[in-house]
Amino acid sequence: MSTTEKILIIGAGGQIGVELTESLSKIYGNKNIIPSDLKDTGIFTNNSFEKLDALDKNALFDIVKKHGVTQVYHLAALLSATGEQNPMFAWKLNMESLFHVLDLAKEKHISQIYWPSSIAAFGPTTPRQNTPQFTIMEPSTVYGISKQAGERWCEWYYNKFGVDARSLRYPGLIGWKSAPGGGTTDYAVHIFHEALKHKTYECFLSENTALPMMHMEDAIRATIEIMQAPADKIKIRGAYNLSGISFSPKEIAEEIKKHIPDFTITYKPDFRQAIAESWPQSINDKEAREHWSWKEKYDLPKLVENMLVNLKEKALV
Ligand code: NAD
Ligand code: SER
Repeated sequence: MSTTEKILIIGAGGQIGVELTESLSKIYGNKNIIPSDLKDTGIFTNNSFEKLDALDKNALFDIVKKHGVTQVYHLAALLSATGEQNPMFAWKLNMESLFHVLDLAKEKHISQIYWPSSIAAFGPTTPRQNTPQFTIMEPSTVYGISKQAGERWCEWYYNKFGVDARSLRYPGLIGWKSAPGGGTTDYAVHIFHEALKHKTYECFLSENTALPMMHMEDAIRATIEIMQAPADKIKIRGAYNLSGISFSPKEIAEEIKKHIPDFTITYKPDFRQAIAESWPQSINDKEAREHWSWKEKYDLPKLVENMLVNLKEKALV
């Protein structure tokens, strides 16, 4: 595809960034995608990687100028579980880095921003089933508070300065190409690795704790679709609800057993149980479907099969 876009991905070495870098590179060409992260792990051999601390506004600005960056996908954050263990730093990282990126757009150095929100922006007083786009939002984790505040700031920058920031409230994301980085939904990735390696898994959530989840491929497609949608289709400038599947540890274990009959699961809930219980169990995303035609492809059986086949075939376990 011929393009005038130069895209900087901040936090590209993480669970989403690895897959997003690959997908955007296929669409826009390797030379137009600049992955960046705190450390160079050597995985981005086809792109020109930049070492960047998202809290360093001047370094961020230098990279934007150096490459003529037009769009930023800002993924660097502390997630729900690590955020609770380091609350003040989670707030600093999640908020200050977002302001740096929003200010770049306000000052017209870049034209578009993607910044993810999360189901964590909801809280214990939110209706938990089929949670609507507009509802009570009283998040009880530092991570969730930062996501809710970030949504408000994105909308505020849009209203005040016309900043074209777009956002999705991702559910828990499940993919085989990269490891999750400290969230409450991470069990739904670990379970596949342990099922293939040891045929058993000890889950840190209790058996009936249902949460909204999604295959990474769907999430990456949603991310690119919302960014490519014409601006007049984006009617929500905070963040869109986004729904894929909803299941509990018991339900995913039963689906895995269809492929690995002697797989067993045990439950030892820890501090992440309370976080999971403060979040919705399923999400209503009718606005995303109506405004920019979102539709997921993966249901639970398809997701489980895809994870097991790919982890096995690529010998990733
Ligand atoms: P991750 O923890 O796997 O990756 C984050 C990346 O950011 C890491 O590679 C890390 O090295 C990098 N990073 C951390 N601090 C940095 C800094 N100061 N400067 C530059 N890079 C830094 O996270 P992820 O799962 O890929 O999530 C990406 C975004 O998506 C986050 O904003 C997260 O809140 C959001 N999100 C993720 C999920 C999910 O299930 N993965 C769900 C909802 C929302
Ligand atoms: N997957 C994320 C987490 O568990 C949700 O934002 O933190």
